[in-house]
Amino acid sequence: MTDIISKKLESKLDNKLKSKQKRSPLEDGFKKGKVVNEVLDKPTVMTLYKMITDHVIAYVNGTVSAGKESVLFWGVDDDGASVALKIYLVSTANFKKREPYILGDPRFSHLKKGTKNLVYLWAKKEHRNLTQCYRAGIPVPRPYYVTNNVLAMEFIGDGGAPAKQLLTSEVDANDYAQAISILGDLYKKAKLVHGDFSEYNIFKTEKGLVVFDLGSGVDLRHPNAHEFLKRDINNIGRFFNKRGILVEDSDKIFEDIVK
Ligand SMILES: Nc1ncnc2c1ncn2[C@@H]1O[C@H](COP(=O)(O)OP(=O)(O)OP(=O)(O)O)[C@@H](O)[C@H]1O
Ligand SMILES: [Mg+2]
Repeated sequence: MTDIISKKLESKLDNKLKSKQKRSPLEDGFKKGKVVNEVLDKPTVMTLYKMITDHVIAYVNGTVSAGKESVLFWGVDDDGASVALKIYLVSTANFKKREPYILGDPRFSHLKKGTKNLVYLWAKKEHRNLTQCYRAGIPVPRPYYVTNNVLAMEFIGDGGAPAKQLLTSEVDANDYAQAISILGDLYKKAKLVHGDFSEYNIFKTEKGLVVFDLGSGVDLRHPNAHEFLKRDINNIGRFFNKRGILVEDSDKIFEDIVK
């Protein structure tokens, strides 16, 4: 964002915040402004504000889940449809452990130093991975928009409540087959390895599995891509095995995917 736009937004935001004291609720979208302002820093609020003026969302309706490094907000667009807003927290994020997933990926070879940059880059990376998957026909939340540390995507779930993860769902052999086929499609069609493929990062919906949390996803040319793929296969196999489902040998799955 250029300084001028940023200054403009800032004063606009300040005015809105001032006017909030006079009349509530706010028309500018921060219906639950209190929640927003307690969780988010000013640059992030300004980024959300920009998304409102860009008509990505009409307002923010509240939080869906709060992790250590990201918060998921429930946004609503001009047509009243839900939008998932994944906000990477700039202040608390420990991005050191994320470096291995971004350094080595040829799509992100021009890394600037500094945590804030890395946070922004991470949001961009997740958006890009989602886009590659979406175009390849892999079931992921449809990506809408990314600016700074905020990623907007299709909301998977109903009325502001996210769909159930595999972790909290009943699962069967069909789900297992679909999970393995998604891993294969990620590799062969989207040219990506997820890097954090697990029961936590897959929704089970009426239409089948939907994979998300793609920030760790790496390009196949990443030097550790195969190592990450093996770990993904092991993790998901371990989960289904624990649930009493007959799983295939991990090495065999790996060979089938990379051959
Ligand atoms: N597109 C979406 N639609 C609806 N809910 C979502 C969506 N993406 C994420 N969520 C919800 O937000 C939670 C966290 O998202 P995600 O796994 O992408 O972030 P994370 O960085 O792993 O955060 P955490 O540290 O909380 O695990 C998910 O478990 C899910 O409930
Ligand atoms: Mg996750």
